[in-house]
Formats: sequence, structure tokens, C-alpha cells
Amino acid sequence: MQISDSSSRILAGLLEARTGQQLTLSRRWRIETALSALMRERAIGTLDELITILVMGREPGLSQQVVEALLNNETYFFRDRAPFDVLDRNVLPQLAKSRAQSKRVRIWSAGCSTGQEVFSLAMIFAENPDQWRGWTVDILGTDVSSGCVDRARAGSYSQFEVQRGLGIGQMIKWFEEGADGWRAVETLRRPVRFQVHNLLEPPPHPGGFDIVLCRNVLLYLSAEKKTLAFERVASALAPDGWLMLGAGETVIGQTTKFGADINARGLYRLTGNGSGIEKRRSPDRRSAAGA
Ligand SMILES: C[S@@+](CC[C@H](N)C(=O)[O-])C[C@H]1O[C@@H](n2cnc3c(N)ncnc32)[C@H](O)[C@@H]1O
Repeated sequence: MQISDSSSRILAGLLEARTGQQLTLSRRWRIETALSALMRERAIGTLDELITILVMGREPGLSQQVVEALLNNETYFFRDRAPFDVLDRNVLPQLAKSRAQSKRVRIWSAGCSTGQEVFSLAMIFAENPDQWRGWTVDILGTDVSSGCVDRARAGSYSQFEVQRGLGIGQMIKWFEEGADGWRAVETLRRPVRFQVHNLLEPPPHPGGFDIVLCRNVLLYLSAEKKTLAFERVASALAPDGWLMLGAGETVIGQTTKFGADINARGLYRLTGNGSGIEKRRSPDRRSAAGA
């Protein structure tokens, strides 16, 4: 299948307008593979034919399906394990103390894909029932892709998916095999909710979250959109909350809203607000100040 430059530019423009994700030239090879199933399903022969249908606006709903097919939804349970250990050993014990009055913990997984990150968090709480008995734990998973959110809500995974990141003991304890694959048990499903949401829009519960995970979502956003995403996340967090990014992602040079938590590797805290984290100037502002 061949795609012209102008067609790939139209697709890249559509994806960026709806999600902020950039399909840089070096990643445009993905287009063909990503759209092949959708095109087969819709009996569309070539990518340029697909673009013509899109541009003419003849099929409402098709553009959203194209956007969802172009998104990278890679995920698995306890991805990059270490940050979950930091949450379990370092952050949750602190929250257990600071929220002892309200006995409520709220977590937001922004860009949760098909839900594995959310169910991993639910497993951490479920593995420690004595600590969290009598607490209200809310874990919200959101994604811009409605297909991903539908799958996350179903909470069912194929044999391949359920084995990625889980030991056999965890798999058998927390998932039941059924006609649709391996479904998360009620104990894991009870504290979780999923909704469609674009991270670049105002957050679902401003100021309400104790922890926000935004992992492997910001990588292909433009610098400007990254800054906006950090502003959205900052406005979602309680003043003493934590932000967790993916491996290789950082706030440095992108925002002054967050600084690294020196006690919890890979986690970030709001600057100011008595959090003890100093505001850091972005490199651009520093060089401008020095000029
Ligand atoms: C690579 S997956 C990461 C999933 C999970 N956080 C993890 O680290 O395993 C990135 C997810 O972010 C979602 N996404 C991309 N842009 C988004 C946006 N603007 N708002 C919300 N979700 C977005 C994609 O649909 C995709 O499911």
C-alpha cells in the first residue's frame, strides 16, 4: 500500500488535532500497518481512497476510528515494575497517614489504554486488605480512545495479555477464565472506573487526586502541548499529591509546576504549596534571563 505525502500529512494533522500526538516523519511508516485492519473491515482499497472519504466527510465516525487506530496503545501489567514498588513502599504508607481522617485515596491514570495500569494499582490495594479495610479507594482510568476505554471497562484480557507482567499466582488469584478471556475479579473491578477523556482538556476532578499516573503518553506531544498537559495534571492534583511519569519521561525543561521527589524515584510533586519542592526555571527562561 502506498501513501502520498499529502495524505500522510492529512492523517498526521487529524491525529494531532484530536489528541496532541505527533506523527513525526520517522514514525509515518506506522500508518499503513495501523490502518490496515480498519480498511479491510470497511472494504477501503487504498490509503488515498480512505483520505478522500475522510475529506468529503461522507462517513461520520470514520475519522475517530482512524485516530484511534493511529494511537499507540502499548501497555501491560506493572509496566516497568520499579515505580509500582515505590508507590507501594513509599507513597501509599505516607497517604495512609495523611488521609487517616478521611480514609479516602483517589488515583487517576491518564492515558490508561486498555486498563492494565489501573488493575495493577487495584492489585496493590487488594494485596494489602488489612491496611485498606474501611477505606474508600477510587481509581479512575481515562483515555482519549473510546475503544480502549470499552476494553478497560470489560476488564477482560487474552491469555497473552494477562501473562504480560503478572506471575502465574497473581493471574489465577485476580483473574477468572471465561468465554471472553481472563476477567478481573470483582475485588479488582470494584474500586476502578473508566471514562473517555482527552488529557489536554480540563481534568475530571480538579484538585481531587492524590496520585496521577501519566505514563508513556506525553512522549510524542509537541513541547507546547506537553506544557499544557502538565498544567492540566497539576490542576488535578491535591497540593500534597504525586505525579508518576513513564521511564525516560521528565518534567525538566517542560514545566515549572513540578519538581522531582527526592524520596521517591520517578515521582514528581507540585512546586510551592509547602511541598518542599523548589520551583525550577525552564532552560529557555534561564537563558533569556542571562541574555
Ligand atoms: C502507550 S499507551 C500507555 C498506557 C499506560 N499508561 C502505560 O504506560 O502502560 C498511551 C495511551 O495514551 C493515550 N493517549 C494519547 N493521547 C492522549 C490524550 N491526549 N489524552 C488521553 N489519552 C491519550 C493513547 O490512546 C494510549 O492508550
